[in-house]
Amino acid sequence: MDRLVIEGGRPLEGTVPTAGAKNAVLSLLTAALLTEEEVRIENVPDLVDVHTMIGILEGLGGEVSFEPGGVVRAKVGAIHDPVAPWDLVRKMRASFEVLGPLVARCGRARVSYPGGCVLGLRPVDVHIKGLEALGARITTEGGDVVAEAPRGGLVGAEIYLGTASGSSVGATRNVLMAAVLAKGTSVLEGVACEPEIVDLAQCLIKMGAKILGAGSPTIVVEGVERLEGTCHRVIPDRIEAGTYITAGAITGGRVRVTGCRPEHLSSFLEALRAAGCPFERGEDWVETQPRGSADRLQATDVTTQPHPGFPTDLQAQWVSLMTLADGISLVTERIFSERYMHLSELLRLGAHVRRQNQTAIVEGIEGLSGAHLTANDLRGSAALVLAGLVATGTTEVHRVYHIDRGYERIEERLRALGANIRRESGD
Ligand code: UD1
Repeated sequence: MDRLVIEGGRPLEGTVPTAGAKNAVLSLLTAALLTEEEVRIENVPDLVDVHTMIGILEGLGGEVSFEPGGVVRAKVGAIHDPVAPWDLVRKMRASFEVLGPLVARCGRARVSYPGGCVLGLRPVDVHIKGLEALGARITTEGGDVVAEAPRGGLVGAEIYLGTASGSSVGATRNVLMAAVLAKGTSVLEGVACEPEIVDLAQCLIKMGAKILGAGSPTIVVEGVERLEGTCHRVIPDRIEAGTYITAGAITGGRVRVTGCRPEHLSSFLEALRAAGCPFERGEDWVETQPRGSADRLQATDVTTQPHPGFPTDLQAQWVSLMTLADGISLVTERIFSERYMHLSELLRLGAHVRRQNQTAIVEGIEGLSGAHLTANDLRGSAALVLAGLVATGTTEVHRVYHIDRGYERIEERLRALGANIRRESGD
């Protein structure tokens, strides 16, 4: 297993382009299951999770190519066996989102239960409730969710998809993709408003779907009989962009993140402003401005919420940033109950962090000191790398395969910004 070795302490400087959004690409690939024609997706990042989803499509009989320049062509001609087994679904939770498209197109589907993960209990009750409302009969057999549409196919319905923490991105996508091929009108309420949902809806509309309201809490879908192929360019990855902006902020350097959509990061940028981090922004870029080494950021509280609130996928990175701020920050996680694996690793760098219920209490200190760290989840690992960039001495982040799930060649991009970071194999 690879590790990242970082010699910290240099302010970063330079330009980093934003890759296509992982979370958007994954669902665009599942949308390819809704048509026998080719779906061409551009700006696709070369990530482990993307290859996992491609593997699932191929397992279902699809022909998928990943061409240089980030172009994926997916053609799922005939699906003889609409099954996504455990060994594929367990690698990545988003695989469960093939259920809706498969039952809509094939009338039946069998997809392994995704199970829990290090972020805490992650149920799929809302996915199931939504598909049942469209008429699917859902049972559990041998750890798989088995869905069967009524003889005439799924039927549009009025469905509330809210969750205890607000809304579910995955359930919204799963049910939306089923509703586009259902008969009649569906009104999906309490849905997620994330930019990745809007991107998916725009692609589905190009495929012939009739969808209104994506990006708002109510989506109205008029079912159609069939969808056709299309070409779609994926939106920039707001979480990757936010991570590199944090790299600029934490090192006090000048990092220009290009090709992003600052409007997708409004709550994060607002927090950055409140922390006193100087930055400039344009239509499609954000640039952190240099700060003197004695010029500390101000402790700033954040609470994660569904979009447009502060994203849970930037919570860990924010904790790293606040470990060096002046004062005590409260970072409250409202989406995933156990998303705190990074705290114990940050302690190893000397950070003063503790947890009380759903809140990380971060007491800012003047400096971190390098150590051996273990990555436990994707975004938490990025947070450890960020902390390593400012810690004195050497930081080694082990088990970096988590990072490779969501960041394309992170060490190369950080090196281009002047970081002293390298990948070594063999843990
Ligand atoms: C997606 C993102 C992930 C991000 C998360 C929240 C992808 C591939 N992943 O994950 O990076 O962190 O959104 O923005 O896009 N819930 C239920 N019942 C359900 C489904 C969800 O109670 O049936 C709850 C979850 O436990 C959680 C909340 O809803 O508390 C949000 O989860 P959800 O939006 O579904 O996350 P994912 O779609 O899995």
